[in-house]
Amino acid sequence: MRTLIKNATVVLPTETLRAGVVIEGQKIAEVDPAPQLRVDETIDALGLHLIPGVIDDQVHFREPGLTHKEDIAHASRACAKGGVTTFLEMPNTKPTTTTCDRLADKLTLAAGESRVNFGFYIGATGANLLELKAAQRSPGIKIFIGSSTGDLLVDEQEALEHIFAETTLPICAHCEDEATVRANAARLAGTTDVADHSKIRDHAAAFIATKRAFDLARRHRHRFHLLHVSTGDEVDLLADHAGLLTAEACPHHLLFSTADYARLGTLVQMNPSLKTVGDNEKIWQGLRDGLLQVVATDHAPHTLEEKLLPYPQSPSGLPAVENSLALMLDQASRGRCTLRQIVHWMCEAPARVWDFVDKGRIEPGYDADLVLVDLNKEQQVLNGEQLTKCRWSPWHGETLRGWPVRTWVLGQQVFQDGRVDDSVRGQEARFDHSLGGYWG
Ligand code: DOR
Repeated sequence: MRTLIKNATVVLPTETLRAGVVIEGQKIAEVDPAPQLRVDETIDALGLHLIPGVIDDQVHFREPGLTHKEDIAHASRACAKGGVTTFLEMPNTKPTTTTCDRLADKLTLAAGESRVNFGFYIGATGANLLELKAAQRSPGIKIFIGSSTGDLLVDEQEALEHIFAETTLPICAHCEDEATVRANAARLAGTTDVADHSKIRDHAAAFIATKRAFDLARRHRHRFHLLHVSTGDEVDLLADHAGLLTAEACPHHLLFSTADYARLGTLVQMNPSLKTVGDNEKIWQGLRDGLLQVVATDHAPHTLEEKLLPYPQSPSGLPAVENSLALMLDQASRGRCTLRQIVHWMCEAPARVWDFVDKGRIEPGYDADLVLVDLNKEQQVLNGEQLTKCRWSPWHGETLRGWPVRTWVLGQQVFQDGRVDDSVRGQEARFDHSLGGYWG
């Protein structure tokens, strides 16, 4: 079966042009202004842009064990709607993904449930070095250098040294210094003001842990990816390490600041915490300068009931896979970035950082994970229309300009104009770590 998508403006790695794209089975077969292949079906995409499917390399889908908050079926439907064709999920589920067996279990679970492609990190505990060394079928190792939701924390220097010295999978980390956070929390004990979350998880906490991780990566020459940059200081540190490691920003650290606690309260409580408008600006500039390469969501849903508990009982994290591409397209419509940059940050760069095989670009031979976007479509984000299990969004009520309208996963149409095809299943993503990562 061959399908031609014709008349779309296609965002290619080196140029953006009006071209036809032929899908054959799971693959892209031809990309050409005048395609030659004979096809069975033609889709006219005049007025729309065709981009590679978004690869979200930082999500928490809560399965197994925390499925009252989210599960793979709901979250992957939200992905399909949001133009996310592949996700990489974090290990702080119940049980944690900290052994090869549990990693295999998650892969089996996702093969049955997920409407989009998937991969899973293996989490470090400080006592599972053999598992980390044996792990395959994974993009990499996740370390919480600073605790967040769940109890995955590796803070002892010796344990960190062993992980960086003895493992070969790429490492990514959540960086907020535990001692600093605890000292700040003790100082502000008794507070019920969510704005204090940014004083507890402050600039220093992020900076100290990030510097520590960079030092480990540099000394051990280990591939390292910094998750969710929240401060301008970390952007400065990235400038000192340009070309040596990679980093990412989340939409919430680009679009919300401490000023938003007054309006949104605990809905925008997350780890790392929100910082100032000045930090937002420096992270944007870091992306434009190539010091950060990736935009991903840290989709971390909790029920609205849980989120509305008084601080600090309220948990940290917010859902975003469903709206992340639209949020960024909306920023492009406001002139803050370009579609080309979005495709780099959300599709090409994550594919390169994690050594995906055949993903992240529109090119013959690559997987037909594709998204048609309408840059002029205006639509409101509404809690009642969210597909995530928690059914709320911190962007509720906002009208965004630029939306995904049609999504293909491995050549199968999984979403069109508001409807998800629940018969579609994604596949386990493949990683070839000999590719050497973003700078390889
Ligand atoms: O706010 C957060 N929530 N940050 C994290 O690092 C974890 C996440 C979660 O799993 O809830």
